[in-house]
Amino acid sequence: MRNYFKLLKFLKGHTRLFSVAVVTMLISSFFEGFQLSLLVPMTDRIFNNKPIVIPNKLPAFITGFVDRLNSMTPEALFTVFPVVVILALLVKNLFVFCYQYLMSDLSQAVMRDIRYRLYAKIQDLSLDYFSKKRTGELISRITHDVNVVENAVSYGLTDLFRQSFMIVLFVVIAFSIYPKAAFLMFVVFPIIGIPMARIGRRLRKISKGTQEKMADINTLLIETISGIKLVKAFGTEQYEKDRFKAKNHDYYKLRMKSIKRLVVIPPITEMFGALCGVAVILWMGKVVMSGGLSFGVFILFFGSIMSIISPIKKLGNVHALIQQALAANERIYDVLDAQVTVKEKPDAIVVGELKGSIRLKDVDFHYAEDSGIVLKNINLEVRKGEIVAIVGPTGTGKTTLVNLIPRFYDPLKGVVTIDGVDVRDATFQSLRKQIGIVTQETILFNDTVRANIAYGYPEANDKQIQAAAEMAFAHQFIVKMPNGYNTLIGDRGFRLSGGEKQRIAIARAILKNPPILILDEATSQLDSESERYVQEALDLLMKGRTVIAIAHRLSTIQKADKIVVLEHGRIIGQGGHEELLKTCPLYNKLYSLQFSMSA
Ligand SMILES: Nc1ncnc2c1ncn2[C@@H]1O[C@H](COP(=O)(O)OP(=O)(O)OP(=O)(O)O)[C@@H](O)[C@H]1O
Ligand SMILES: [Mg+2]
Repeated sequence: MRNYFKLLKFLKGHTRLFSVAVVTMLISSFFEGFQLSLLVPMTDRIFNNKPIVIPNKLPAFITGFVDRLNSMTPEALFTVFPVVVILALLVKNLFVFCYQYLMSDLSQAVMRDIRYRLYAKIQDLSLDYFSKKRTGELISRITHDVNVVENAVSYGLTDLFRQSFMIVLFVVIAFSIYPKAAFLMFVVFPIIGIPMARIGRRLRKISKGTQEKMADINTLLIETISGIKLVKAFGTEQYEKDRFKAKNHDYYKLRMKSIKRLVVIPPITEMFGALCGVAVILWMGKVVMSGGLSFGVFILFFGSIMSIISPIKKLGNVHALIQQALAANERIYDVLDAQVTVKEKPDAIVVGELKGSIRLKDVDFHYAEDSGIVLKNINLEVRKGEIVAIVGPTGTGKTTLVNLIPRFYDPLKGVVTIDGVDVRDATFQSLRKQIGIVTQETILFNDTVRANIAYGYPEANDKQIQAAAEMAFAHQFIVKMPNGYNTLIGDRGFRLSGGEKQRIAIARAILKNPPILILDEATSQLDSESERYVQEALDLLMKGRTVIAIAHRLSTIQKADKIVVLEHGRIIGQGGHEELLKTCPLYNKLYSLQFSMSA
């Protein structure tokens, strides 16, 4: 039961809508009972012309009403009867429409809110979360899991109230007619209910498994579709097909496991229901024959008992639905409750534009407890206006080091300061506003060239955007594209070459015009013409800024005021080019292998 309340938590903020929906639903259910009761005057009075006989003592208003029915002629009843039937049906269906509409509105609104909360949380989570979680898994939270909860809210909650009320209604009718026989229902309840609860629990476990399998499939899809080129290059199409087939089949097997349990419920309950009906007929048939109960009232009694079976069955389904939803719920809250590790302090201060220097002092860093240390004892100063180049073999922590400056991660030990202010004390806005980043991999969104350049700077006008593109040597190829600045680029649009992408990213950084620039040069070699444009664009971008550049180009290290050599997460040399050539063997080696080659 506690679990049901957990689900009700989603309704917070929608209680008014929910209450109105429940009330309309109760009214519609009441009319269902009323419809069944109409059988009594029809069979007893109209068709058989016999008095209605109810053995049990009932409240005066009912006995009074029954007496009136008994005193009316069948012909008189026959003329009003159709009117009553049609009216009752009309009112009932009006309320059915209302409650179904309201309940759907409710569940859709609830899902919209959860989806938004999840997305907002994902946007707020720190980067370390994304190295731990797979993209496919997070997507499946927002799509699949939210849908499971939607099912539970729209069908589950509706039925929970509606079917419970129906049971109460029919139990009351049955008890008022013949309490002794009505006790039979208390035998039926547990016989049907207990195994159903057990199946429900099992279903919850299976459902958890299915969601995980779905997440696996999602991950595989994302990887292989975005990496289709790699698949082709290695000729691994069949391997990928087999891998997908296996996962797809696992999913199928698990789904069938849960479907098997879902479909076994109806036939079993039906059997028990039938047995129960036979028992009632055997028992009460005698009372009817002896005249202790009129036939119409017997029909109402029998109908009530039989009408209880379907709500119980539906409640069983509700239970299963809710069990599945709880599994999804857990996974949704797993994201919603995740810790934001890199958090802005409530009393964070606004740092002004860099005047003095950026410093890393005794910095150690690791990505996770169980993975090794990535940066060790880093001490580095970057003064305003300087160009500092970072060089080192692949995987030594260059990207990691520069990621600490805009505070994408917090150091394990030591501090990163900007003009003496610990970046952990600064507001994200004031810190990141002054840092422009050109990343190793170019990230473009599925949007127009214009929107991609003006990303994060929506107030930029066309003139500014074009000026930035011109400085990035991008204007010339942009105007040749089918719709110029309005051409859609990204996965679903116009395909750009590697160098063109880089120049769009550079234009983006130029438009932002940050005093500090972090440049993570791509290692991929461009053809010489493209390379020349990118290089010239970068030169313009670096001009007049404080630059920390992870350098793969000779031109970048030639411009640097200081070069930092990184190996295995430690700084093993720092200084000018000539000096390092003499004192740092690794630099010497890197220079002769990498830099002089690209010259
Ligand atoms: N998000 C991450 N989660 C966990 N470990 C990571 C993450 N990013 C990098 N690492 C690890 O940290 C180490 C340093 O990586 P980093 O990306 O800083 O290297 P790099 O010097 O930039 O290399 P390259 O020149 O190839 O870009 C590597 O061993 C890498 O496996
Ligand atoms: Mg890197």
